[in-house]
Amino acid sequence: MAIDLHVYSNGPPGTHQEPPDEDNMSDSSSELVEIDNAEFPSFFEERGDRLFHSHGRSPYPLPIDADEQHRLNRQHALLRGFLDNHYVGPVTEVLRPGARRHVIDLCTGTGRWVMDMAAIFPHVHFDGCDIDNVTFEMHDIADRFRHRNGTVDFVHARDISLCVRNYPALIREVARVLRPGGLFVSCEWDSYPCMIDGTGLGSRAPRTHHYFSLINSALHTLGVRSIAGNVPRFLEQSHVFTDIQCARFTVPVGPWQGGLERTGERLMTNVLVYAQSILPLLLEGEFVSRRDAVGLIEGIGDEIDNVPGIVLVYNTVHARRI
Ligand SMILES: C[S@@+](CC[C@H](N)C(=O)[O-])C[C@H]1O[C@@H](n2cnc3c(N)ncnc32)[C@H](O)[C@@H]1O
Repeated sequence: MAIDLHVYSNGPPGTHQEPPDEDNMSDSSSELVEIDNAEFPSFFEERGDRLFHSHGRSPYPLPIDADEQHRLNRQHALLRGFLDNHYVGPVTEVLRPGARRHVIDLCTGTGRWVMDMAAIFPHVHFDGCDIDNVTFEMHDIADRFRHRNGTVDFVHARDISLCVRNYPALIREVARVLRPGGLFVSCEWDSYPCMIDGTGLGSRAPRTHHYFSLINSALHTLGVRSIAGNVPRFLEQSHVFTDIQCARFTVPVGPWQGGLERTGERLMTNVLVYAQSILPLLLEGEFVSRRDAVGLIEGIGDEIDNVPGIVLVYNTVHARRI
């Protein structure tokens, strides 16, 4: 299994050096530097009772502590169960044996996807990029990747919408590193839950609707907007992707849907953990008082328990590099 299990950085944000002459077969154009244990504290800061990453220009507003790690791992498990797979799109074709294969997982989080995929595709080299400590390579996706042009087979971008302000610029960089025929996969949640029957969330689950409105207003102040519905258009407008295919999956929040009870329970737990994790952003921006927030989060729990039919839509897009 070809995974770097050390923690590396390609230097502080914005300090990427231009590649040397492309005179060898390496996929990467700059060296990784292993981060010394003593340096780790400088990458984090405590705010309130939560731990956040402190470096880089990322707008990412969520903590990186145990509750969040569990949320990400739970999300990984729920998506694996719901989709019955770790990926969408022609991944097996793109990663077929016979050549040296290379995958980048953007904003890899706990690295579970990389580890599971590396077990399924043992002949493939996987790089997980993140700005926190738990994964394989520290890299801010707003910076140029260290990989050479046209050397990567597959770039995977799952649940990265809170990490990126300029998605078209990211797509340009993804296109640079992908080989012709290479695959880009994006998977993103809608920014609001909704009702499966099309009725208004505001009337059926008003506290959930209100809390998510506050979240979206706060995210706008960070320059983060919902990208789920825009990824196909961004890919089209780049003029370097073809065979753009999209799907929307309606995932139950709560165990109300027959056959998807476990998925619904996991997503319910994650919505509640997310509501807590995003709270520091809402409090720091004075979007809500702590007392009102506590009431709203309790309200979300009540509504999920008592209003069957709340769903979150999961959007997948895959496209091939021309
Ligand atoms: C919501 S998690 C995504 C988890 C992962 N993709 C998955 O599907 O399990 C977002 C991750 O992106 C990282 N992150 C935030 N901003 C980033 C940036 N600018 N560049 C790279 N990683 C970033 C965070 O540290 C966090 O681990």
